[in-house]
Amino acid sequence: MNLTLKIWRQAGPDDGGDFATYDVRDISDDMSFLEMLDVLNEDLIGKGEEPVAFDSDCREGICGQCGLMISGMAHGPDVTTTCQLHMRSFSDGETITVEPWRASSFPVLRDLVVDRSAFDRIIQAGGYISVNTGAAPEAHSVPVPKANADRAFDTATCIGCGACVAACPNASGMLFMGAKIAHLGELPQGQPERDSRVVSMVNQHDAEGFGGCTNIGECAAACPKEIPLDVINQLNKDFRKAKKGAH
Ligand code: SF4
Ligand code: FES
Repeated sequence: MNLTLKIWRQAGPDDGGDFATYDVRDISDDMSFLEMLDVLNEDLIGKGEEPVAFDSDCREGICGQCGLMISGMAHGPDVTTTCQLHMRSFSDGETITVEPWRASSFPVLRDLVVDRSAFDRIIQAGGYISVNTGAAPEAHSVPVPKANADRAFDTATCIGCGACVAACPNASGMLFMGAKIAHLGELPQGQPERDSRVVSMVNQHDAEGFGGCTNIGECAAACPKEIPLDVINQLNKDFRKAKKGAH
């Protein structure tokens, strides 16, 4: 298929940036969106022009590096990561707009690349457990009810891609944070730091400039790992209990 791409070009954090229009030809249905951008970049390099900067690492939907706003949708029209989005989701002759995540907490570094280290700082504030490491304990020595184990496992699938922030009109990071709170709060190992974790993470989230949740739900709709909206309820509940010292 042949496509027209309107891509955000920005030379650096202090540049104003603007859209540039490119045509790409003979794109296979089976290519991923990033492979299609690779084709564009090879063409640009061949012509002596600056390739489009974008992030990726695993290209398997597990690292969370590759988020792009594609025609106004975080990660594009399918519920998946940009690297797992295939060109068969688009039509021949289509014009596709490609932008970086738009959130002041994720400043643009260059073209489509944003700085998501605000998420790292939220994790550093409390998204961990402190345990003595050593030999793995016997698997049955810490019983966890199946429902809790399943919920912990499902919420642990958050890859920190930032689509939830990009999709949210408030640029809130609460789905991301709620996924970590739910994951660790379901497990016995997560209990000792449960109160301090939620307070520290929420404080850091707010200090980074992310907005609050107003129950719009765009975050969960855009999440490639289908993290459910109710993790934000769990986060709010844990936060209230921690403030009251009720755990
Ligand atoms: S909650 Fe979903 S959208 Fe948000 S960072 Fe995690 S995987 Fe990405
Ligand atoms: S490149 Fe790793 S999730 Fe897309």
